Amino acid sequence: MLRKAGRFADGDGEVRDAFGRRINYLRISVTDRCNLRCYYCMPEGDVPLIQREDWLTFEEITEVARAAAGLGFDKIRLTGGEPLLRSNLVGLVAMLGRVRGLRDLSMTTNGLLLDKYALPLAEAGLHRVNISLDSVDPEVYREKTRGGDFKRAVKGIRAAQAAGFRRIKLNCVVEWSSEEPDAREVASFAERVGLEVRFIRRMNLAAGEFWVVDGGAGGDCARCNRLRLSCEGLVRPCLFSDVGFNVRELGARAALVQAIEAKPESGEQCVTSTFSQIGG
Ligand code: 5AD
Ligand code: SF4
Repeated sequence: MLRKAGRFADGDGEVRDAFGRRINYLRISVTDRCNLRCYYCMPEGDVPLIQREDWLTFEEITEVARAAAGLGFDKIRLTGGEPLLRSNLVGLVAMLGRVRGLRDLSMTTNGLLLDKYALPLAEAGLHRVNISLDSVDPEVYREKTRGGDFKRAVKGIRAAQAAGFRRIKLNCVVEWSSEEPDAREVASFAERVGLEVRFIRRMNLAAGEFWVVDGGAGGDCARCNRLRLSCEGLVRPCLFSDVGFNVRELGARAALVQAIEAKPESGEQCVTSTFSQIGG
């Protein structure tokens, strides 16, 4: 039996779901827009976009973060789409940086805008960044991202390194393994510039195909510690599920609690969203 909402007293340190997993990590998607269209994330044609008026405001997002911290969450990651396309994201980071109880504030980005934002983000209190990099061959990078400029990505990576984050990781999506040619080249690039890489096997939401991420907790259902917040305010218990709880209808705390209570033992499939809408 899982603990009921009322028993999640503020400041009691931790919440567990029905399967005994401690849930302490919230991934917040701040926009579904992206300046790339990676082959594994977005379809080539049109994607239905979430209306801008429906996006949570920074105040609403911060309210959810505060409610999460009250339930014992201590880790937040900003995702997208591409989070740096949301205007004044640095302002949001500063607001989240002031939420008591968070010890880890990070972001997943494609890095194209980091040249401009890495330093302000670090100064606003962002601790870590994960930067997507699936190839170090400019032609292949362009193909995989459908138009991305590899040089700009590298500039972003360099800017992040200069900004003084606690930790920077590269995310490299692979078909099968880190032994693939593109992955090996990304690994040697990472070694050369002194960064860690996480190889992530390509997942398929609609087909329910997912794998454990090397060196991370992603994809390992038994150890899953996360919830997701979509940019229009749905708290989603699992990437591979279509269930969501609306923070505007239920209030932040109740939406979080209900999502924890609804967390499935393992993922199945998700047909209602693309990765770009739920942020990987
Ligand atoms: N499979 C695996 N990872 C994905 N991401 C997005 N789509 C997929 C997918 N289909 C992850 C990648 C990327 C981040 C933004 O989201 O790690 O770097
Ligand atoms: Fe954009 Fe990231 Fe999706 Fe690529 S993986 S299309 S960079 S959101």
